[in-house]
Amino acid sequence: MKLIIASDHGGYSLKEAIIKHLRSKDMDCVDIGVTSEDSVDYPDFAEEVAAKVSTGEVDRGILVCGTGIGMAITANKFKGVRAAVVTDEFTARMSREHNDANVIALGGRVLNNDVALNIVNAWLETEFSGGRHERRLQKIQQIETKNFK
Ligand code: RB5
Repeated sequence: MKLIIASDHGGYSLKEAIIKHLRSKDMDCVDIGVTSEDSVDYPDFAEEVAAKVSTGEVDRGILVCGTGIGMAITANKFKGVRAAVVTDEFTARMSREHNDANVIALGGRVLNNDVALNIVNAWLETEFSGGRHERRLQKIQQIETKNFK
């Protein structure tokens, strides 16, 4: 699975912990920044990740800001991106089983590292359930097609 990750200053420390965790499991993850806690604008980083997920250049993206909210709002402006703000293992699992979320957005000022790493594990391990959820995703896609020119 091709993974990409980015954060703003509010998510920098958690992003670094996630990368270390993934590498300890021999999982590669392209890191597009940030590289310090200097203040930046989260849409710039969400845009780069979401664009690559949208075109299929990568399979999934992880975005971290202070709350995860701004990153998810931005990422969901891209066709085919289903970005979920996830706060625990349950929502992480549901975001995959029911929503086939291809991006998760985490809050570096919301989650402690242990919870966040468990969220990442659950999100990576859980498959989309399909069935009735497939029909609902198709409806989302139709709305996208109608509204995104
Ligand atoms: C930056 O201060 C903060 O607004 C950002 O990290 C994020 O929480 C936005 O949703």
